[in-house]
Amino acid sequence: MGATETLLQVEGLTKSYDGSSKALEGVSFSMNRGEFVSLIGSSGAGKSTLLRCINRLIDPTCGSVVFDGWETSSARGRALREIRRRMAMVFQGYNLVYRSTAIENVLQGRLGYKNSLMGALSIFTEEEKRAAFDALDRVGLGCCAYMRADQLSGGQKQRVGIARALVQDPLLILADEPIASLDPKSSRTVMEHLRWAADERGIACLVSLHQVEYALEFSDRIIAVSGGKLVFDGAPDDLTPSIIASVYGEEDPSSSTAECC
Ligand SMILES: Nc1ncnc2c1ncn2[C@@H]1O[C@H](COP(=O)(O)OP(=O)(O)OP(=O)(O)O)[C@@H](O)[C@H]1O
Ligand SMILES: [Mg+2]
Repeated sequence: MGATETLLQVEGLTKSYDGSSKALEGVSFSMNRGEFVSLIGSSGAGKSTLLRCINRLIDPTCGSVVFDGWETSSARGRALREIRRRMAMVFQGYNLVYRSTAIENVLQGRLGYKNSLMGALSIFTEEEKRAAFDALDRVGLGCCAYMRADQLSGGQKQRVGIARALVQDPLLILADEPIASLDPKSSRTVMEHLRWAADERGIACLVSLHQVEYALEFSDRIIAVSGGKLVFDGAPDDLTPSIIASVYGEEDPSSSTAECC
């Protein structure tokens, strides 16, 4: 394990699903420990593909991902399990077990630390159960621990997803459009919890978003992809309206030279 500032180094990452067209092409960037980075880009730009390549839900076609000193693209077996338990995922669709309670869902975040028998029997230590209750409390859901996940609102389900990520004791949270299905108030709450994870727990967060205003407000840094390529990597203040327009393939109204007739 590395102890440097840099947590994640992505170099020349390319992914082709069909062997010809490229969903990602030569993407390079790095992230520091505890850094909050938003990933923006229009639909089909390659955001989910990038997140999935980083945690090896899918294999990149070429390029490298070094996470906490581990080369993930060639990791197998024990090394891959170690990498995956230090990278937690938060999904737009929550990925909860709906017939299970909130607390049971949070405890799922510990499964990467169990052998398969203990996992299958859901055997968790007292310390793990305490940590799961603390995490639920942290996201304001201590009162809902024994409610079935399907009885929770969308915002509450996403907060259970974040609590599950927290008990995984990750170095990095990869969140794929965590607020895309939520109303503005729940969206803000979810973003605040992720920001808290970065600030107070030192967990780096890479969060894909369609809402540029949240990216500008919550991020240390923003990266943007367009047509599978990295087209911006910088501070929120440097993401100008014309860059935003080009990321989303729109004409920048401020630079328009077209004359009215
Ligand atoms: N499993 C797959 N098989 C084949 N092509 C895929 C697959 N997943 C994604 N793609 C293609 O890869 C490209 C990037 O898709 P991706 O899902 O990464 O985009 P995205 O930025 O996450 O979009 P969205 O904002 O709609 O979620 C798209 O052209 C998409 O059609
Ligand atoms: Mg996506």
